Amino acid sequence: MVDMLTPVLSATWDADRPWTRRTYEANGGYAALRTALGMAPGDLVDAVKKSGLRGRGGAGFPTGMKWGFLPPDDGKPRYLVVNADESEPGTCKDTPLMLATPHLLVEGVVISSYAIGANRAFIYLRGEELHVYRRLLQAVEEAREAGYVGTDVLGSGFDLDVVVHAGAGAYICGEETALLDSLEGRRGQPRLKPPFPAVAGLYARPTVVNNVESIASVPSIVSKGADWFAGLGTEKSTGYGLFSVSGHVKHPGQYEAPLGITMRQLLELAGGMRDLPDGTPGELKFWTPGGSSTPLFTAEHLDVPLDFESTMQAGSMLGTRALQMFDQTTSVVRAVLRWTEFYAHESCGKCTPCREGTYWLVQVLRRIEAGKGTEEDVDTLLDTCDNILGRSFCALGDGATSPITSAVKYFRDEFLSGTHTPAWELFPYERSSVF
Ligand code: NAI
Ligand code: SF4
Repeated sequence: MVDMLTPVLSATWDADRPWTRRTYEANGGYAALRTALGMAPGDLVDAVKKSGLRGRGGAGFPTGMKWGFLPPDDGKPRYLVVNADESEPGTCKDTPLMLATPHLLVEGVVISSYAIGANRAFIYLRGEELHVYRRLLQAVEEAREAGYVGTDVLGSGFDLDVVVHAGAGAYICGEETALLDSLEGRRGQPRLKPPFPAVAGLYARPTVVNNVESIASVPSIVSKGADWFAGLGTEKSTGYGLFSVSGHVKHPGQYEAPLGITMRQLLELAGGMRDLPDGTPGELKFWTPGGSSTPLFTAEHLDVPLDFESTMQAGSMLGTRALQMFDQTTSVVRAVLRWTEFYAHESCGKCTPCREGTYWLVQVLRRIEAGKGTEEDVDTLLDTCDNILGRSFCALGDGATSPITSAVKYFRDEFLSGTHTPAWELFPYERSSVF
């Protein structure tokens, strides 16, 4: 089973102080940058296109195509912005990557900026992560001292300034245009698209916004080749990625594997479901393939290849590969209520379906969770979701409906049963489950 793993991004996570420039360089770090600076920027864009790399922030948009949308260089500023505002419930891949190997991200930033002709790059980090912020600042400073960042990078004539910016902890600032508003010093709220950031982004200039893991994948494409990358994964979902397995498994953690691996294989790598405190074998009840805004899966979906196409065909989304596993002690109603409370709290309030709809979803779910739910309440839930989905201004509203509609689809009876005992009441000494 271990053969299934492809440690590239996580290759040096177990090394001694992997976050230092010294360790990173000792393991071949910044060699890809030297190679890239010897290439024409257009060839780098072509290599990323050929690799098939698709955005690792959740949407899976082809990275090379996004770079290719930038208008021709007019000598005026254009920017690279790294979206490090990872906040989706269950999503936890970018933070360990930045903590363990911040130089991998910095190297990716310099190569990508060179490829798109940007002389200024921003890494926008979620505000709560002060420890990650410090680590990134230190990495950028170390890179500057070594001549990887700054004026005339490694004598190539290419100049690059890298700014690390911490937001104020709003989930909506992970939406790329809200992020840009926030970076410009305004309240973070989504902008109307089009124009897409590639045409008019930060300060209304052409801007590429890419996720941390997408940018951190670029050095390996340069050093090992686009064909190597394209040869991993599936035909349309190429390469590898970090799969974050959390919840009721024996060994939760980050498993880096080619796209297309199945949850059954990952579950085996994670030691299987953990036993209940009284020794009863744990049984999988439901799971999220890509964070809480992707429709739930159940045990019947264990063999769905975790790639963009197969997960969609099976009724969900690959999203951020945040695999949250829940056993039979979990109240699905309680889990869904908790997520919905999160979305209601984080709704930016700009559009009515999401602002009002998420509020009312919470009210109805609270009544159901209190054991007072009726058939009519379940219908109201579905009707409210129907009025949010496709009518919201950004993906937050749509995403808020996914756990509810999928939970009702698979567990309708539970919404009416009136028993939503949390695990900590079933097993008073078992405090690790939040549900
Ligand atoms: P999207 O599909 O609208 O856009 C994806 C990317 O492609 C964007 O960068 C967009 O600018 C670009 N793009 C799309 N069409 C384009 C065009 N015609 N021209 C130029 N650029 C174009 O998806 P969105 O709203 O950016 O992201 C939604 C996803 O975010 C969800 O699928 C979810 O999985 C993920 N997500 C991730 C979170 C996290 O913590 N990482 C949090 C919440 C959601
Ligand atoms: Fe704001 Fe929600 Fe509307 Fe997005 S869908 S713009 S988060 S109110």
